Amino acid sequence: MQPAWYSSGIDHIWLPYTQMKTSPPPLPVSHTDGVRIFLDDGRVLIDGIASWWTACHGYNHTHIRKLLVEQLERMPHVMFGGLVHEPALKLATRLVNLFPESLNRVFFSESGSVSVEVAIKMSIQFWVNKGYPEKNKILAFWGGYHGDTSGAMSVCDPEEGMHKLFKGAIPEQYIIKLPRTENDLSTLEKFLSNKAKKCAAMIVEPLVQGAGGMIFHGDEVLIRLRELCDRHDILLIFDEIFTGFARTGTLFAFQQGGVSPDILTLSKALTGGTIPLAATVAKNNVFEAFLNESDESALMHGPTFMANPLSCAAANASLDLFESKPILKEVCRISSQMNDELERCRSIPGVADVRVKGAIGVVELSGKISLDWLRQQFVEEGVWIRPFGNIVYLTPAYTISQQDLSVLTSAIYQVVSKWSQK
Ligand SMILES: Cc1ncc(COP(=O)(O)O)c(C=O)c1O
Repeated sequence: MQPAWYSSGIDHIWLPYTQMKTSPPPLPVSHTDGVRIFLDDGRVLIDGIASWWTACHGYNHTHIRKLLVEQLERMPHVMFGGLVHEPALKLATRLVNLFPESLNRVFFSESGSVSVEVAIKMSIQFWVNKGYPEKNKILAFWGGYHGDTSGAMSVCDPEEGMHKLFKGAIPEQYIIKLPRTENDLSTLEKFLSNKAKKCAAMIVEPLVQGAGGMIFHGDEVLIRLRELCDRHDILLIFDEIFTGFARTGTLFAFQQGGVSPDILTLSKALTGGTIPLAATVAKNNVFEAFLNESDESALMHGPTFMANPLSCAAANASLDLFESKPILKEVCRISSQMNDELERCRSIPGVADVRVKGAIGVVELSGKISLDWLRQQFVEEGVWIRPFGNIVYLTPAYTISQQDLSVLTSAIYQVVSKWSQK
């Protein structure tokens, strides 16, 4: 028996990434707490993916809730044009203090995709303002994912970004293989020798291509990309919307390569997963290219809810937790437990790979996969794990206990074994 709000509302909602004709109905949630999702029918699921990688401190964290409530009473929202407020300026200062010195200008928006749009717009206009309007293409990589708005889609993997379906409607960019080998590197180098003069920026998810298949690469790739961008006068954008805030074992993935981007995008765990917020952070020299006497040179972008005070308060609260809790140590613990406990999946027929980086655990399958069947099996095991493509993965909250994490890894072993015997 479904609750009344479900029965009356379900025929009026359009769900994401869902074939509404054939997909199983979504599960009604009544509330969340810690790493648990409570369903309306009384079932409880241990969450293995932290609501699309956002709820890094677990759900309903008391400290984040407290600061949100205080902010709610003071000022839930005010426009950011011509006005500023303490939560936003405090957050901008705290963020830039986490980065290398020159990465010091923060532009807020409300979603990861929009922060990518802003990064693209910033890099193209950077070159326009400098007198090189022909540098207006973005170079991106196969397997990349940067969001669902049209600019962001244009820099996704062509399949993931549905470039065929939307041909002619989204901008055409340069998409090439991410250089993991010397061979790939020389292909990219050759490509740039021809095309760099048309290229405004290169965009990459550092260390992990997330939604494109949880594909890892080494930190040396970041060093090589930085060198290439410097040599060919191209801005480098690191999209840390997934990898940021400790997911790969360091606060930001780019720190592992010891190189920094010209523009950085952040979202998801920025507010500890409580409320939407995103940021596009630019180096000072990028910012300075927008400064002159003409309004035309200014960055003409301004989402209505940018720098929403509630969102900024939540992000400040989340940063308090990063400062006061041993989160990197927790990520290390989770990483080593996932390494130990997922390894046995490797021997299941049909498992193509098992890999772990930071608090990301991946079991890659090969062969015929019914996502609906897999997802249903996980719910029956009492866990919330949502495979996509051929990837079964865990990105739990950093607060997850050893016991709960074991329930998740065992569920993966059980369900993947069952799938393999089907
Ligand atoms: C690396 C990366 N960039 C951008 C996005 C888009 O973010 P949003 O869904 O908030 O628009 C995502 C979302 O998964 C992402 O993983």
